[in-house]
Order: sequence, then structure tokens, then C-alpha cells
Amino acid sequence: MTEWQKTNWRNKPRVQMPDYIDAAALAKVEAQLSQYPPLVFAGEARRLKQHLGAAGRGEAFLLQGGDCAESFEQFSADAIRDTFKVMLQMAMVLTYGAKVPVVKVGRMAGQFAKPRSAPTEVLDGVELPSYRGDIINELAFTPEARIPNPSKMLQAYTQAAATLNLLRAFSTGGFADMSMVHSWTLGFTDEQDVQKYSEIADRIQDTIDFMDAAGITADTTHEFSTVEFYTSHEGLLLEYEEALTRLDSTSGNWLAGSGHMIWIGDRTRQPDGAHVEFCSGVLNPIGLKCGPTTTAEDLKVLMAKLNPENEEGRLTLIARFGAGKAGEHLPRLVKAVKEEGAKVTWVCDPMHGNTIKSATGYKTRPFDSVLREVRDFFGVHQAEGTVPGGVHFEMTGLDVTECTGGVRAVTEEDLSDRYHTACDPRLNASQSLELAFLVAEELTNLRRDRKKRAAG
Ligand code: PEP
Ligand code: CO
Repeated sequence: MTEWQKTNWRNKPRVQMPDYIDAAALAKVEAQLSQYPPLVFAGEARRLKQHLGAAGRGEAFLLQGGDCAESFEQFSADAIRDTFKVMLQMAMVLTYGAKVPVVKVGRMAGQFAKPRSAPTEVLDGVELPSYRGDIINELAFTPEARIPNPSKMLQAYTQAAATLNLLRAFSTGGFADMSMVHSWTLGFTDEQDVQKYSEIADRIQDTIDFMDAAGITADTTHEFSTVEFYTSHEGLLLEYEEALTRLDSTSGNWLAGSGHMIWIGDRTRQPDGAHVEFCSGVLNPIGLKCGPTTTAEDLKVLMAKLNPENEEGRLTLIARFGAGKAGEHLPRLVKAVKEEGAKVTWVCDPMHGNTIKSATGYKTRPFDSVLREVRDFFGVHQAEGTVPGGVHFEMTGLDVTECTGGVRAVTEEDLSDRYHTACDPRLNASQSLELAFLVAEELTNLRRDRKKRAAG
């Protein structure tokens, strides 16, 4: 076998990538990015892989979440802080239910490129190329804005670096200190959630007080004052990915230096395509979206290509079928995994199969459908005796009105109030927390069942 090269993807059929017009400008950007420092280190990616391996065995649980598409215009410290905060709250609720560590991975610091269902968009009789994310072109509906511009990769890199810098500061600088659990309560969170969350926070505070009394102070216990937070994005724009790929001198393997985990989307998972080729050669943990059109045959080929050594934590299968459809599709894929004896981590993305157009014209996702898909996912794994290893959400810490429903119900009429996403609709802070409680319930039931069965 010839050795993997980070440029090999260029010889494979590519989809969902822009055709840059100015080849010289593109080459210049690529050369520049190649000299920039990687954003993450190989040791971190390996550590995340271990955590994901544990999630695959049911000894940890993955919480992956963040924007559908990060935006240049909406870039702000407050938005990063709020999403980080909600993820910590969700993680706390999940830890409480699952009684296992929650692995926290943001769709952050690199989630800029978007696959689209159509290459063009028509508005009032005018047809223009689709918006493909801020790293490629602009959302504005003008011919100029839609031209792919390679220099946007440099801005994306800068924003990713600044985002990651802030996340690292929050993770270790005291913000994530467990003894601050109460202060993480957001003003606009639903009353009922505040109540439930406060109960959990109280119990955690009790435990910390007890430990203090016993001489194990939270101050000196690293696990209580810092949090591990990882980044992830879809590895869609391969010029960007290649330029940030570096040789890890300790292992002699290649690292995608753009983020800790990268995933392959539902539209770019062709077994012989460019994206699979690129991801096959980097050491990072890889996610693979599995949708209604994923066949057992394709999945087997993909598992062999992406994880030939059958390494735990290397491959996360992200199921996204739509509410009511997991029962139809997931069992055949679970069976394919079993037949191959493959080690994978199963995760549920209840967002991408549940996008609808509201009567008011907005793309939305009903909270009930999101919930239902999570329940379906747990149900199938329960029936198959396999492990539900985590959840993957499009969410924000901001009080947006993009998905309908939830306890503090967002109606179709409300959607226009605070609809800010650059791409798909996200859960707001209150909906995210509500969902975390529901997942925690599922995890609690699962744990009880396991205990019961173990007791015979
Ligand atoms: C996404 O995660 O934003 C996405 C486009 O998902 P999928 O590839 O599953 O449609
Ligand atoms: Co999306």
C-alpha cells in the first residue's frame, strides 16, 4: 500500500466543495495557512479518542453541540461563553443521570463550511449560487457575495484560533469550577428547568461541602476546577483541512490540526470520494453521519476505510434519520457493525432529519420531533443490546427562536422574533437544558435496567 498523503483527496471525486476562480489567490492562501500553527495537538486528539472509546463501551457519554454554522458577523465572546455555559449545565445534568463522565465537544472553532441540498438558490425569480458558509462565501443574496473567496479561510482560521483560546481560558481559568454550579443558571432559563437544575446544583454543592469538610478541597482537586472541552467541525473544505494537517513527530502520524474531531457529512460520505480519503489518513477521532440512505454495505466499506485497525474511539457513527425513522434504519446499521465486529461509538443527532419549513416560511425543527428521535435511538439500542454513546445537537446559549416547541413554547409565529442562525435552526438555551433532562432520564432508566439484569 502506498503511504497516505494529505493531498491524495485531490485525485478523488469531490462534492459540495467550491470551485475557486482565482487559482493563484487560492494557492497563496493555502501556502499561508500551511505556515500557521495548528490549532490543536496530537496528544489532545488521542486523549479525546480514548474518551470516545469509553463512550462506545458505555463508560462515558458524549455531548457534542454548537452552531450549525459559525458566523463571522455574530462572532462574540458572549455568544461563546453562553454556549459553553449551557453545555456545562447540560453535561452536569447528564452526568447526574448517567453516572459516567460526560465528554464535552463543541461544534465550535472551525464549524464554518456547509454542505447544501441544492447548488443554487432562487429568490423572487433570481437564481444565485447557494451560500456555503462564511469560510467560503457570504449569506447576502447578491452575485458578488456568493463568489467563493479563498481569503475567507484566513479569517476563519483567525476566528477559530480566538474562539479556541477563549474556550481554553474558560476551561481552566476558574469559570468551569464546580463550586460555581449555581452561578451558571441563566436568567432566561425556564422556571421549571431552573428548579430542576437548582436541585442538582444543590446536591453537587453538598458533595463539595462534604469533601471540603473531609479535607479534599475543590480548590486542590483538579477535576473540580477545570473541564476538558474539545472542538469539532465537519471536515468539508479540504483545502483548509489539508493546509492545517501536520505530521505528529511522536507517532509519525498525520494530525488534522484544525480541530480535535472532524466529521464526514451525510452528503460527502461516498466511500471512494475525496472526504473519506482525507479523513482516512489523519489520526483524529472521526465522525460519520449516517442517514436514511446509508446502506449496510456502504457502512461496512466505510468502517474498513476509516478504521482499518478497529481502534476504539476512532469512529463515531452519528445517526440522523428523523423522528419515527430510527426503527426503520438503525437496526440494519447496528447489525452491519455487529457482523464486522467493529468498534464504534453510536451517537444520536436528532436535528438533521427533522428540518421542516414552517407555515411562516422559516426552516425549523419541532422540539417534539427532536425528542422523539432521541427516544427512538435509545429504544433501538435497548432492543439490540448495544450502547447509546452520546448526543449531537445544533444549539446555542442564546435565547433564539429557531426551533418550535419546548416548555417555554416557541410557536411558528414566534420564529421571526429572534431567528439568527446562518444556516439550520438551533435549540435555544432553555430547549437545550430541557433536552438534557430528558436524555438524563433515558440514561437513568438504562442504568436501572442494566443493574436489574446484572442482579439476575
Ligand atoms: C450538519 O451537521 O450541520 C449537517 C449538515 O449534517 P448532515 O451532514 O448530517 O446533514
Ligand atoms: Co446543520
